[in-house]
Amino acid sequence: VLVSSPAVLSFHGAAIRRALSFRPTTEIVTADGEGAKTLSSLAQILDSALESGVRRDDFVVAFGGGVVTDLAGFAAAILLRGVAWWAIPTTLLGMADAAIGGKTGIDHAKGKNLVGSFHLPRGVLIDPALLETLPQREFRSGLVEVYKALLVGDEEGAGAMAGRLEEIADSRAVADFLGRAVAVKQRIVERDFRESGERRLLNFGHTLGHAIEHVRPVESVTHGEAVAVGMAAALELSVRKCGFGEEEAGRMVGELLSFAGDGLTSALDPDSSFLWSALSRDKKFSSQGSPAVLLEKPGTPRIEPASAEEWRDALIRVLRRSAL
Ligand SMILES: NC(=O)c1ccc[n+]([C@@H]2O[C@H](COP(=O)([O-])OP(=O)(O)OC[C@H]3O[C@@H](n4cnc5c(N)ncnc54)[C@H](O)[C@@H]3O)[C@@H](O)[C@H]2O)c1
Ligand SMILES: [Zn+2]
Repeated sequence: VLVSSPAVLSFHGAAIRRALSFRPTTEIVTADGEGAKTLSSLAQILDSALESGVRRDDFVVAFGGGVVTDLAGFAAAILLRGVAWWAIPTTLLGMADAAIGGKTGIDHAKGKNLVGSFHLPRGVLIDPALLETLPQREFRSGLVEVYKALLVGDEEGAGAMAGRLEEIADSRAVADFLGRAVAVKQRIVERDFRESGERRLLNFGHTLGHAIEHVRPVESVTHGEAVAVGMAAALELSVRKCGFGEEEAGRMVGELLSFAGDGLTSALDPDSSFLWSALSRDKKFSSQGSPAVLLEKPGTPRIEPASAEEWRDALIRVLRRSAL
């Protein structure tokens, strides 16, 4: 059962069909974009698969961005109580993050990713050549996620990437960093499959990042842009609370904010009550704060409680710094 989306099939449909021609295939096309992570798209996949007579020893191939791999992986998890699936991510975010680690699911009116399952794919095929057709803004968004993975788990890789985000986004020479990011995620997931501890490290930059995405201070914010600002604030907090080198943090903050773009950083209002209610929406901020992923240095993360107030101050400081 091949599950993909129109944009992906328009560029790479012939290649995937050729690759799967050794076996009868039912092709299911979902919509492009986050709107496809719904119960009704899931039902559509289950209906088509069952109508085509899918059996226990059949398998699902999810060919697309994180939306497709989340959705199709979840369909595989519940179809006939679980069939095997393979992920072939076609976005940089999918390759570095979404397709790795077996978290699958859909969104709910109450929030993102609230319904789902842990169901590891049998394999993940990563072919960076698929990225050639990816729009630049999507590529940049995924690149932030690659950098995040290296910052929490690969000191050497993070060091090699620092100062070069724009250059890598332009040249798209990302394969080496991508390989390293995948290795970090895989290592963390192997030790903490169900996210009871270490897997949370991959949320570096996401506490504030998610709140910014939610508030949407400008017309369109990519996940990566919001997370880049979140990572900048987390670095600022890391200086205060974990002894991260101030000069190095300053350089990194500057790079992250400029990579996220002036449009977003100048529209961000650190005093916006929306932002802080979004921040406490999914995290319970007690007076001591909630656990935040910070860094002692690149590659060495540490979980420390941080309050909403501290996040706010950190955001104010990084924005002030970027305005200088
Ligand atoms: N399961 C996990 O662990 C995990 C981790 C991180 C993110 N996610 C999920 O991933 C999703 C975001 O994934 P995404 O950023 O890949 O977005 P996406 O899947 O929406 O893809 C972005 C856009 O790019 C298009 N596209 C995909 N590949 C292309 C290609 N090669 N050429 C041209 N266009 C292409 C898509 O059709 C889509 O319009 C979110 O729903 C998020 O919750 C899951
Ligand atoms: Zn992310």
